[in-house]
Amino acid sequence: MTGLDTGRIDPRIVRVITALALTVSILIMVALPAAYFIAARVSITATLQARAGSAANVMTEFVTRNPDHWVYENARITGRLVPFTEAVAPKHWRILDRTGAQVATLGTPATKPAITVSQPIYDSGVVAGAVEVSRSISDVLAWTVFLAVIGTALAGGSFLLLRTLPLRLLAESMERLERLQALERERVAQLAQASKLAQLGELATGMAHELNQPLTAITLAAQNAMKQLERGALDAPSLAARLDRILQMARRASTVIDHMRIFGRMDGEASAPITLAAAVRGARDLLAFKLERHRVRVVDTLPPDLPPVVGQAVPLEQVLVNLIANACDAYGEPPADADAPPRLIAIAAAATEGWVCLTVRDEAGGIPPDILPRIFAPFFTTKPVGQGTGLGLSISYGIINDMGGTLAAESANGSTTFVITLPAGPRDNRPAGPVSDLPAPPAGPAG
Ligand SMILES: Nc1ncnc2c1ncn2[C@@H]1O[C@H](COP(=O)(O)OP(=O)(O)O)[C@@H](O)[C@H]1O
Ligand SMILES: [Mg+2]
Repeated sequence: MTGLDTGRIDPRIVRVITALALTVSILIMVALPAAYFIAARVSITATLQARAGSAANVMTEFVTRNPDHWVYENARITGRLVPFTEAVAPKHWRILDRTGAQVATLGTPATKPAITVSQPIYDSGVVAGAVEVSRSISDVLAWTVFLAVIGTALAGGSFLLLRTLPLRLLAESMERLERLQALERERVAQLAQASKLAQLGELATGMAHELNQPLTAITLAAQNAMKQLERGALDAPSLAARLDRILQMARRASTVIDHMRIFGRMDGEASAPITLAAAVRGARDLLAFKLERHRVRVVDTLPPDLPPVVGQAVPLEQVLVNLIANACDAYGEPPADADAPPRLIAIAAAATEGWVCLTVRDEAGGIPPDILPRIFAPFFTTKPVGQGTGLGLSISYGIINDMGGTLAAESANGSTTFVITLPAGPRDNRPAGPVSDLPAPPAGPAG
Protein backbone atom coordinates (compact mmCIF):
# COMPACT_ATOMS: atom_id res chain seq x y z
CA MET A 1 0.00 0.00 0.00
CA THR A 2 2.90 2.31 0.71
CA GLY A 3 5.30 0.90 -1.83
CA LEU A 4 7.57 0.20 1.13
CA ASP A 5 9.77 -2.88 1.17
CA THR A 6 9.24 -4.22 4.67
CA GLY A 7 10.56 -7.63 3.69
CA ARG A 8 13.72 -7.44 5.76
CA ILE A 9 12.08 -5.90 8.84
CA ASP A 10 10.95 -8.21 11.64
CA PRO A 11 7.21 -8.78 11.02
CA ARG A 12 6.53 -8.16 14.72
CA ILE A 13 7.97 -4.64 14.43
CA VAL A 14 5.88 -4.03 11.31
CA ARG A 15 2.78 -5.20 13.20
CA VAL A 16 3.47 -3.00 16.25
CA ILE A 17 4.15 0.10 14.14
CA THR A 18 1.07 -0.56 12.00
CA ALA A 19 -1.08 -1.01 15.13
CA LEU A 20 0.25 2.22 16.67
CA ALA A 21 -0.28 4.18 13.45
CA LEU A 22 -3.80 2.73 13.17
CA THR A 23 -4.62 3.66 16.77
CA VAL A 24 -3.41 7.24 16.37
CA SER A 25 -5.26 7.56 13.05
CA ILE A 26 -8.52 6.25 14.51
CA LEU A 27 -8.15 8.66 17.44
CA ILE A 28 -7.70 11.55 15.00
CA MET A 29 -10.67 10.37 12.92
CA VAL A 30 -12.99 10.02 15.94
CA ALA A 31 -11.59 12.68 18.25
CA LEU A 32 -11.93 15.64 15.89
CA PRO A 33 -15.69 15.45 15.20
CA ALA A 34 -16.49 14.05 18.65
CA ALA A 35 -14.65 16.86 20.43
CA TYR A 36 -16.41 19.46 18.29
CA PHE A 37 -19.84 17.90 18.84
CA ILE A 38 -19.45 17.65 22.61
CA ALA A 39 -18.04 21.18 22.93
CA ALA A 40 -20.81 22.64 20.75
CA ARG A 41 -23.51 20.81 22.71
CA VAL A 42 -22.17 21.90 26.08
CA SER A 43 -21.81 25.51 24.98
CA ILE A 44 -25.31 25.65 23.38
CA THR A 45 -26.89 24.08 26.46
CA ALA A 46 -25.12 26.56 28.74
CA THR A 47 -26.22 29.55 26.62
CA LEU A 48 -29.82 28.32 26.46
CA GLN A 49 -29.87 27.71 30.19
CA ALA A 50 -28.55 31.19 30.94
CA ARG A 51 -31.09 32.86 28.64
CA ALA A 52 -33.99 30.72 29.81
CA GLY A 53 -32.96 31.49 33.41
CA SER A 54 -33.06 35.27 32.79
CA ALA A 55 -36.40 34.92 30.99
CA ALA A 56 -37.76 32.83 33.87
CA ASN A 57 -36.75 35.57 36.33
CA VAL A 58 -38.61 38.17 34.28
CA MET A 59 -41.64 35.85 34.04
CA THR A 60 -41.53 35.13 37.77
CA GLU A 61 -41.75 38.86 38.43
CA PHE A 62 -44.61 39.14 35.90
CA VAL A 63 -46.49 36.23 37.48
CA THR A 64 -45.98 37.58 40.98
CA ARG A 65 -47.66 40.80 39.87
CA ASN A 66 -50.50 39.05 38.02
CA PRO A 67 -50.91 35.78 39.90
CA ASP A 68 -54.52 35.20 38.87
CA HIS A 69 -54.65 36.05 35.23
CA TRP A 70 -51.08 35.84 33.91
CA VAL A 71 -52.08 32.83 31.86
CA TYR A 72 -54.39 35.05 29.82
CA GLU A 73 -51.81 37.79 29.22
CA ASN A 74 -50.48 36.22 26.03
CA ALA A 75 -49.57 39.47 24.28
CA ARG A 76 -47.84 41.06 27.26
CA ILE A 77 -45.86 37.89 27.99
CA THR A 78 -44.70 37.78 24.38
CA GLY A 79 -43.69 41.44 24.65
CA ARG A 80 -41.59 40.65 27.70
CA LEU A 81 -39.88 37.78 25.90
CA VAL A 82 -38.89 39.72 22.79
CA PRO A 83 -35.63 41.14 24.30
CA PHE A 84 -34.44 37.54 24.86
CA THR A 85 -34.96 36.40 21.30
CA GLU A 86 -32.34 38.47 19.54
CA ALA A 87 -29.91 35.61 19.05
CA VAL A 88 -27.85 34.39 16.17
CA ALA A 89 -29.48 31.00 15.76
CA PRO A 90 -33.29 30.86 15.58
CA LYS A 91 -34.86 29.72 18.83
CA HIS A 92 -38.28 28.63 19.80
CA TRP A 93 -39.64 29.99 23.07
CA ARG A 94 -42.64 28.66 24.98
CA ILE A 95 -44.22 29.72 28.24
CA LEU A 96 -46.07 26.91 29.94
CA ASP A 97 -48.41 26.96 32.91
CA ARG A 98 -48.09 24.59 35.85
CA THR A 99 -50.05 21.88 33.99
CA GLY A 100 -47.68 22.11 31.04
CA ALA A 101 -50.25 23.82 28.77
CA GLN A 102 -48.78 26.42 26.43
CA VAL A 103 -49.52 30.03 27.46
CA ALA A 104 -47.42 31.90 24.89
CA THR A 105 -44.93 31.10 22.12
CA LEU A 106 -42.35 32.99 20.08
CA GLY A 107 -40.39 31.93 17.01
CA THR A 108 -40.85 28.86 14.86
CA PRO A 109 -40.53 25.36 16.30
CA ALA A 110 -36.92 24.09 16.09
CA THR A 111 -36.28 21.41 13.47
CA LYS A 112 -35.12 18.09 14.95
CA PRO A 113 -32.68 17.25 16.35
CA ALA A 114 -32.82 20.04 18.90
CA ILE A 115 -31.73 20.90 22.43
CA THR A 116 -34.52 22.00 24.77
CA VAL A 117 -33.95 23.69 28.11
CA SER A 118 -36.62 24.47 30.67
CA GLN A 119 -36.49 26.83 33.67
CA PRO A 120 -39.24 27.13 36.32
CA ILE A 121 -41.41 30.21 36.86
CA TYR A 122 -42.34 30.77 40.51
CA ASP A 123 -45.30 32.38 42.19
CA SER A 124 -44.45 33.10 45.85
CA GLY A 125 -41.92 30.29 45.87
CA VAL A 126 -44.25 27.75 44.25
CA VAL A 127 -43.67 26.58 40.69
CA ALA A 128 -46.31 28.26 38.56
CA GLY A 129 -45.06 27.30 35.12
CA ALA A 130 -41.93 27.14 32.97
CA VAL A 131 -39.95 28.92 30.30
CA GLU A 132 -38.90 26.49 27.62
CA VAL A 133 -36.43 27.33 24.87
CA SER A 134 -35.30 25.00 22.06
CA ARG A 135 -32.69 25.31 19.39
CA SER A 136 -32.07 23.03 16.45
CA ILE A 137 -28.62 21.44 16.33
CA SER A 138 -28.78 20.28 12.70
CA ASP A 139 -26.06 22.85 11.86
CA VAL A 140 -23.86 21.33 14.58
CA LEU A 141 -24.50 17.88 13.11
CA ALA A 142 -23.62 19.12 9.64
CA TRP A 143 -20.33 20.51 10.95
CA THR A 144 -19.69 17.28 12.82
CA VAL A 145 -20.12 15.27 9.63
CA PHE A 146 -17.88 17.72 7.77
CA LEU A 147 -15.21 17.40 10.45
CA ALA A 148 -15.58 13.61 10.36
CA VAL A 149 -14.78 13.70 6.65
CA ILE A 150 -11.76 15.94 7.26
CA GLY A 151 -10.77 13.73 10.21
CA THR A 152 -10.90 10.63 8.03
CA ALA A 153 -8.70 12.26 5.41
CA LEU A 154 -6.27 13.41 8.12
CA ALA A 155 -6.35 9.95 9.68
CA GLY A 156 -5.58 8.30 6.36
CA GLY A 157 -2.70 10.70 5.79
CA SER A 158 -1.33 10.33 9.27
CA PHE A 159 -1.64 6.54 9.07
CA LEU A 160 0.49 6.50 5.95
CA LEU A 161 2.96 8.92 7.50
CA LEU A 162 3.13 7.26 10.91
CA ARG A 163 3.50 3.81 9.42
CA THR A 164 5.71 4.53 6.44
CA LEU A 165 8.16 6.94 8.00
CA PRO A 166 9.42 4.79 10.90
CA LEU A 167 9.41 1.65 8.75
CA ARG A 168 11.32 3.39 5.99
CA LEU A 169 13.87 4.75 8.47
CA LEU A 170 14.14 1.29 9.97
CA ALA A 171 14.55 -0.36 6.58
CA GLU A 172 17.19 2.20 5.65
CA SER A 173 19.19 1.76 8.83
CA MET A 174 18.96 -2.02 8.50
CA GLU A 175 20.22 -1.78 4.95
CA ARG A 176 23.10 0.38 6.15
CA LEU A 177 23.82 -2.13 8.90
CA GLU A 178 23.77 -5.01 6.43
CA ARG A 179 26.19 -3.16 4.15
CA LEU A 180 28.48 -2.54 7.12
CA GLN A 181 28.21 -6.17 8.15
CA ALA A 182 29.05 -7.31 4.63
CA LEU A 183 32.07 -5.00 4.64
CA GLU A 184 33.06 -6.31 8.04
CA ARG A 185 32.71 -9.93 6.88
CA GLU A 186 34.82 -9.15 3.85
CA ARG A 187 37.42 -7.45 6.02
CA VAL A 188 37.54 -10.39 8.43
CA ALA A 189 37.87 -12.81 5.52
CA GLN A 190 40.71 -10.76 4.11
CA LEU A 191 42.43 -10.64 7.50
CA ALA A 192 42.01 -14.40 7.87
CA GLN A 193 43.53 -14.88 4.47
CA ALA A 194 46.37 -12.48 5.27
CA SER A 195 47.13 -14.29 8.50
CA LYS A 196 47.03 -17.62 6.71
CA LEU A 197 49.42 -16.36 4.05
CA ALA A 198 51.72 -15.16 6.82
CA GLN A 199 51.62 -18.67 8.29
CA LEU A 200 52.22 -20.12 4.85
CA GLY A 201 55.27 -17.93 4.46
CA GLU A 202 56.71 -19.51 7.57
CA LEU A 203 55.61 -22.99 6.53
CA ALA A 204 57.21 -22.56 3.11
CA THR A 205 60.70 -22.99 4.60
CA GLY A 206 59.63 -26.31 6.07
CA MET A 207 57.90 -27.33 2.88
CA ALA A 208 61.02 -26.64 0.84
CA HIS A 209 62.83 -29.04 3.16
CA GLU A 210 59.96 -31.53 2.89
CA LEU A 211 60.12 -31.37 -0.93
CA ASN A 212 63.85 -31.75 -0.96
CA GLN A 213 63.65 -35.31 0.31
CA PRO A 214 61.56 -36.79 -2.54
CA LEU A 215 63.42 -34.70 -5.10
CA THR A 216 66.75 -36.05 -3.85
CA ALA A 217 65.34 -39.58 -3.93
CA ILE A 218 64.07 -39.05 -7.50
CA THR A 219 67.44 -37.69 -8.62
CA LEU A 220 69.27 -40.61 -7.00
CA ALA A 221 66.99 -43.21 -8.56
CA ALA A 222 67.37 -41.61 -12.01
CA GLN A 223 71.16 -41.34 -11.68
CA ASN A 224 71.43 -45.00 -10.63
CA ALA A 225 69.31 -46.06 -13.59
CA MET A 226 71.48 -43.97 -15.94
CA LYS A 227 74.68 -45.57 -14.59
CA GLN A 228 73.28 -49.07 -14.95
CA LEU A 229 72.14 -48.21 -18.47
CA GLU A 230 75.63 -46.99 -19.38
CA ARG A 231 77.10 -50.19 -18.01
CA GLY A 232 74.52 -52.11 -20.03
CA ALA A 233 73.37 -53.70 -16.78
CA LEU A 234 69.84 -52.32 -16.71
CA ASP A 235 67.38 -55.16 -16.92
CA ALA A 236 63.62 -54.66 -17.05
CA PRO A 237 62.86 -55.58 -13.37
CA SER A 238 65.41 -53.15 -11.95
CA LEU A 239 64.26 -50.38 -14.35
CA ALA A 240 60.70 -50.99 -13.16
CA ALA A 241 61.86 -50.77 -9.52
CA ARG A 242 63.64 -47.45 -10.16
CA LEU A 243 60.66 -46.00 -12.03
CA ASP A 244 58.32 -47.15 -9.27
CA ARG A 245 60.46 -45.35 -6.69
CA ILE A 246 60.50 -42.21 -8.85
CA LEU A 247 56.70 -42.33 -9.13
CA GLN A 248 56.27 -42.79 -5.38
CA MET A 249 58.49 -39.85 -4.60
CA ALA A 250 56.81 -37.65 -7.21
CA ARG A 251 53.44 -38.47 -5.67
CA ARG A 252 54.78 -37.64 -2.25
CA ALA A 253 56.03 -34.27 -3.51
CA SER A 254 52.76 -33.44 -5.18
CA THR A 255 50.88 -34.38 -1.99
CA VAL A 256 52.99 -31.89 -0.04
CA ILE A 257 52.38 -29.19 -2.66
CA ASP A 258 48.65 -29.94 -2.85
CA HIS A 259 48.32 -29.65 0.89
CA MET A 260 49.96 -26.23 0.85
CA ARG A 261 47.91 -25.11 -2.13
CA ILE A 262 44.64 -26.11 -0.49
CA PHE A 263 45.66 -24.57 2.80
CA GLY A 264 46.57 -21.34 1.06
CA ARG A 265 43.53 -20.84 -1.12
CA MET A 266 40.78 -18.39 -0.19
CA ASP A 267 38.19 -20.47 1.65
CA GLY A 268 34.91 -21.14 0.01
CA GLU A 269 34.33 -24.80 0.66
CA ALA A 270 30.93 -25.96 1.74
CA SER A 271 30.43 -27.11 5.31
CA ALA A 272 30.88 -30.83 5.79
CA PRO A 273 31.58 -33.21 8.64
CA ILE A 274 35.26 -33.07 9.59
CA THR A 275 37.08 -35.63 11.69
CA LEU A 276 39.25 -33.85 14.21
CA ALA A 277 41.95 -36.50 13.86
CA ALA A 278 42.32 -35.60 10.15
CA ALA A 279 42.56 -31.89 10.96
CA VAL A 280 45.20 -32.53 13.64
CA ARG A 281 47.16 -34.75 11.25
CA GLY A 282 46.98 -32.08 8.51
CA ALA A 283 48.24 -29.37 10.87
CA ARG A 284 51.08 -31.60 12.08
CA ASP A 285 52.13 -32.33 8.51
CA LEU A 286 52.19 -28.67 7.60
CA LEU A 287 54.24 -27.91 10.70
CA ALA A 288 56.51 -30.97 10.52
CA PHE A 289 59.58 -28.90 9.79
CA LYS A 290 58.89 -26.28 12.45
CA LEU A 291 58.24 -29.00 15.04
CA GLU A 292 61.50 -30.66 14.15
CA ARG A 293 63.43 -27.41 14.24
CA HIS A 294 62.09 -26.51 17.71
CA ARG A 295 62.53 -30.14 18.86
CA VAL A 296 58.87 -30.29 19.83
CA ARG A 297 56.81 -33.46 19.69
CA VAL A 298 53.04 -33.52 19.27
CA VAL A 299 51.37 -36.27 21.25
CA ASP A 300 47.76 -36.68 20.33
CA THR A 301 45.36 -38.96 22.10
CA LEU A 302 42.10 -38.57 20.25
CA PRO A 303 39.56 -41.30 21.02
CA PRO A 304 38.75 -43.24 17.82
CA ASP A 305 34.99 -42.91 18.34
CA LEU A 306 35.06 -39.11 18.52
CA PRO A 307 32.06 -37.65 16.67
CA PRO A 308 32.89 -35.36 13.72
CA VAL A 309 32.32 -31.62 13.81
CA VAL A 310 30.65 -29.64 11.01
CA GLY A 311 32.45 -26.89 9.14
CA GLN A 312 35.22 -26.24 6.65
CA ALA A 313 38.37 -28.31 6.92
CA VAL A 314 40.89 -25.65 5.93
CA PRO A 315 39.91 -23.00 8.51
CA LEU A 316 39.85 -25.61 11.28
CA GLU A 317 43.29 -26.77 10.21
CA GLN A 318 44.36 -23.12 10.21
CA VAL A 319 43.29 -22.84 13.87
CA LEU A 320 45.30 -25.94 14.82
CA VAL A 321 48.33 -24.77 12.83
CA ASN A 322 48.21 -21.51 14.74
CA LEU A 323 47.85 -23.13 18.17
CA ILE A 324 50.66 -25.62 17.51
CA ALA A 325 52.90 -22.92 15.98
CA ASN A 326 52.26 -20.65 18.99
CA ALA A 327 53.27 -23.46 21.34
CA CYS A 328 56.48 -24.05 19.31
CA ASP A 329 57.24 -20.32 19.47
CA ALA A 330 56.62 -20.37 23.21
CA TYR A 331 59.17 -23.20 23.62
CA GLY A 332 61.59 -21.08 21.61
CA GLU A 333 64.97 -22.21 20.32
CA PRO A 334 65.80 -25.89 20.92
CA PRO A 335 68.04 -26.77 23.86
CA ALA A 336 71.75 -26.95 23.09
CA ASP A 337 71.94 -30.38 24.69
CA ALA A 338 70.98 -32.79 21.93
CA ASP A 339 70.06 -35.45 24.48
CA ALA A 340 67.54 -33.22 26.27
CA PRO A 341 64.09 -34.77 26.22
CA PRO A 342 61.81 -33.38 23.48
CA ARG A 343 59.35 -30.71 24.46
CA LEU A 344 55.71 -31.84 24.22
CA ILE A 345 52.46 -30.50 22.85
CA ALA A 346 49.60 -32.68 24.08
CA ILE A 347 46.45 -32.74 21.97
CA ALA A 348 43.48 -34.49 23.54
CA ALA A 349 39.78 -34.64 22.84
CA ALA A 350 36.61 -35.75 24.55
CA ALA A 351 32.97 -35.81 23.61
CA THR A 352 30.24 -34.74 26.01
CA GLU A 353 26.56 -34.50 25.25
CA GLY A 354 26.34 -32.80 21.85
CA TRP A 355 29.78 -31.23 22.10
CA VAL A 356 33.33 -32.13 21.22
CA CYS A 357 36.13 -30.62 23.24
CA LEU A 358 39.69 -30.48 21.90
CA THR A 359 42.59 -29.27 24.01
CA VAL A 360 46.05 -28.20 22.88
CA ARG A 361 48.45 -28.03 25.80
CA ASP A 362 52.07 -27.07 26.15
CA GLU A 363 54.53 -26.71 29.03
CA ALA A 364 56.42 -23.80 27.54
CA GLY A 365 56.19 -21.45 30.49
CA GLY A 366 52.59 -20.24 30.35
CA ILE A 367 51.05 -16.90 29.53
CA PRO A 368 51.47 -14.14 32.14
CA PRO A 369 48.14 -13.20 33.78
CA ASP A 370 48.35 -9.59 32.57
CA ILE A 371 48.70 -10.77 28.97
CA LEU A 372 46.17 -13.61 29.05
CA PRO A 373 43.06 -11.39 28.65
CA ARG A 374 44.55 -9.71 25.58
CA ILE A 375 45.81 -12.62 23.50
CA PHE A 376 42.62 -12.88 21.38
CA ALA A 377 42.67 -9.20 20.44
CA PRO A 378 43.59 -8.56 16.80
CA PHE A 379 47.20 -7.48 16.31
CA PHE A 380 48.20 -8.36 19.86
CA THR A 381 51.58 -10.04 19.76
CA THR A 382 54.58 -10.36 22.04
CA LYS A 383 56.76 -11.55 19.18
CA PRO A 384 59.32 -9.38 17.42
CA VAL A 385 58.29 -7.50 14.28
CA GLY A 386 58.36 -9.86 11.31
CA GLN A 387 57.71 -12.91 13.47
CA GLY A 388 54.25 -12.30 14.84
CA THR A 389 51.23 -10.72 13.18
CA GLY A 390 49.08 -10.90 16.31
CA LEU A 391 46.24 -12.14 14.09
CA GLY A 392 46.46 -15.89 14.67
CA LEU A 393 44.39 -16.17 17.82
CA SER A 394 41.87 -13.50 16.86
CA ILE A 395 41.26 -15.20 13.51
CA SER A 396 41.12 -18.61 15.19
CA TYR A 397 38.59 -17.27 17.68
CA GLY A 398 36.44 -16.02 14.77
CA ILE A 399 36.71 -19.32 12.89
CA ILE A 400 35.64 -21.40 15.90
CA ASN A 401 32.88 -18.91 16.66
CA ASP A 402 31.59 -19.22 13.07
CA MET A 403 31.46 -22.97 13.57
CA GLY A 404 29.19 -22.43 16.58
CA GLY A 405 31.87 -23.19 19.14
CA THR A 406 34.18 -21.44 21.58
CA LEU A 407 37.92 -21.02 21.92
CA ALA A 408 39.38 -20.28 25.34
CA ALA A 409 42.82 -20.20 26.92
CA GLU A 410 43.90 -21.25 30.38
CA SER A 411 47.36 -20.84 31.76
CA ALA A 412 48.80 -21.91 35.10
CA ASN A 413 52.04 -23.31 36.50
CA GLY A 414 53.98 -22.81 33.32
CA SER A 415 51.57 -24.66 31.10
CA THR A 416 49.07 -23.30 28.62
CA THR A 417 45.92 -25.03 27.42
CA PHE A 418 43.76 -23.85 24.54
CA VAL A 419 40.29 -25.38 24.69
CA ILE A 420 38.21 -25.65 21.53
CA THR A 421 34.60 -26.61 22.09
CA LEU A 422 32.51 -27.40 19.01
CA PRO A 423 29.03 -28.78 18.47
CA ALA A 424 29.21 -32.46 17.60
CA GLY A 425 28.13 -33.26 14.07
CA PRO A 426 25.71 -36.03 13.10
CA ARG A 427 27.23 -39.35 14.09
CA ASP A 428 25.14 -41.36 11.61
CA ASN A 429 26.60 -39.73 8.50
CA ARG A 430 29.99 -40.18 9.94
CA PRO A 431 32.39 -41.00 7.16
CA ALA A 432 34.87 -43.80 7.54
CA GLY A 433 38.01 -41.83 6.73
CA PRO A 434 39.06 -38.19 6.66
CA VAL A 435 36.45 -36.12 4.87
CA SER A 436 38.45 -33.01 4.36
CA ASP A 437 39.68 -32.54 0.83
CA LEU A 438 43.14 -32.23 2.21
CA PRO A 439 45.29 -34.96 0.74
CA ALA A 440 46.38 -37.71 3.07
CA PRO A 441 49.89 -37.42 4.45
CA PRO A 442 52.73 -38.93 2.45
CA ALA A 443 52.35 -42.65 2.31
CA GLY A 444 55.72 -44.15 1.59
CA PRO A 445 58.81 -43.88 3.77
CA ALA A 446 61.37 -41.28 2.80
CA GLY A 447 64.73 -41.95 1.23
N1 LIG B 1 50.98 -21.37 23.80
C1 LIG B 1 51.31 -20.13 24.13
N2 LIG B 1 52.19 -19.89 25.15
C2 LIG B 1 52.51 -18.62 25.48
N3 LIG B 1 52.02 -17.52 24.88
C3 LIG B 1 51.14 -17.69 23.88
C4 LIG B 1 50.73 -18.99 23.45
N4 LIG B 1 49.84 -18.84 22.44
C5 LIG B 1 49.71 -17.52 22.25
N5 LIG B 1 50.47 -16.81 23.09
C6 LIG B 1 50.57 -15.34 23.20
O1 LIG B 1 49.50 -14.78 22.46
C7 LIG B 1 50.01 -13.82 21.53
C8 LIG B 1 49.09 -13.75 20.33
O2 LIG B 1 49.12 -14.92 19.55
P1 LIG B 1 48.63 -14.89 18.05
O3 LIG B 1 47.33 -14.21 18.00
O4 LIG B 1 48.74 -16.25 17.50
O5 LIG B 1 49.66 -13.92 17.36
P2 LIG B 1 51.20 -14.16 17.03
O6 LIG B 1 51.44 -15.63 17.09
O7 LIG B 1 51.38 -13.60 15.67
O8 LIG B 1 51.94 -13.38 18.08
C9 LIG B 1 51.38 -14.30 21.22
O9 LIG B 1 52.20 -13.25 20.75
C10 LIG B 1 51.84 -14.82 22.58
O10 LIG B 1 52.28 -13.78 23.40
MG1 LIG C 1 50.24 -17.14 16.24
